[in-house]
Amino acid sequence: MADLIVALDVPTRQQVTETLARLGDAVDFYKIGLELYSAEGPDVVRLVKDAGKRVFLDLKLHDIPRTVERAVKAIGGLGVDLATIHASGGRAMIRAAADAAATFGAAAPKILAVTCLTSLDQTDLDDLGIGRDMAAQVEALGVLAVTNGADGIVCSPREVAAMNRALVPAALGRRIVFVTPGVRPAGAAVGDQKRVATPAGAVRDGATHLVVGRPILEAPDPAAAARAIRAEMDAVCAQ
Ligand code: C5P
Repeated sequence: MADLIVALDVPTRQQVTETLARLGDAVDFYKIGLELYSAEGPDVVRLVKDAGKRVFLDLKLHDIPRTVERAVKAIGGLGVDLATIHASGGRAMIRAAADAAATFGAAAPKILAVTCLTSLDQTDLDDLGIGRDMAAQVEALGVLAVTNGADGIVCSPREVAAMNRALVPAALGRRIVFVTPGVRPAGAAVGDQKRVATPAGAVRDGATHLVVGRPILEAPDPAAAARAIRAEMDAVCAQ
C-alpha cells in the first residue's frame, strides 16, 4: 500500500492550521519544506505531529557528517517520519545520517536521498565537472545512498521504474522507499511540473509514497481531491 503525502507549500503556521482543518482525516501525511521550516521552525513540525499526522521533513541536508548527524538527531527528536539528505554529500555523510536516525529505534525517521535536483540539467553537471550523463549520475547516487544506509530516494515518477531496477538489488533485501513528486491526476493542471505521471502510473512503477501539492490544495474540495487520489492509488495496490 502506497502512502499519499500532501506538500504543505504554504508560508505560515496559520495556513498550516487551516489546511489541516480542510483536509481532516482525508490526509494523514504532510511534507514540510525548507521555506515553511525556515519561517516557522520546529514548532510547525510539532503542530502537524500534535494533529496526529506523519511528517516528511524535506530539508535536503548537505554538510559535514558530524553536522548532519546532529541535525538528524534533532529531527528525530521531533518525531519526523521521513527526512531528506543530498546523496552528493558522500558516503560518510549518508552513513552518519542513517546511523543518527537508527538511534531512535522503531521511531527512527527514514532517511531519503535526493540524487540530482530536477532543476539541474546536463550543462549543470558539466559545470560541476561530473563526467557522467544525468541518468547514470542519478542511478550512481541512488546506489551510493542505499548501500550506505539510506532508506530510499526521492525521484520523478518517470525515473521510478528504472530506479527500482537499480536499487532493489543494491539494497540486499531491505525495503526501499521511493518517494515521487510530480504526480497529476488525469486531466489536472500540470503547472510548472515537466515530468509528470498519474497517481496510478506512479504506484504501478514502484513508488511507495506520492507527494502531491497543488492538485489537492487548489481543488475546490481538497478533501475530496485527496480521497480520489487515494482511491486511485489503492485500486492499483489491490490489483
Ligand atoms: O504542487 P505540486 O504537486 O507540484 O507539489 C509538489 C511538491 O514536491 C512541491 O513541494 C515541490 O517542491 C516538491 N518537489 C517537486 N519536484 C522535485 C522535488 C520536490 O515537485 N523534484
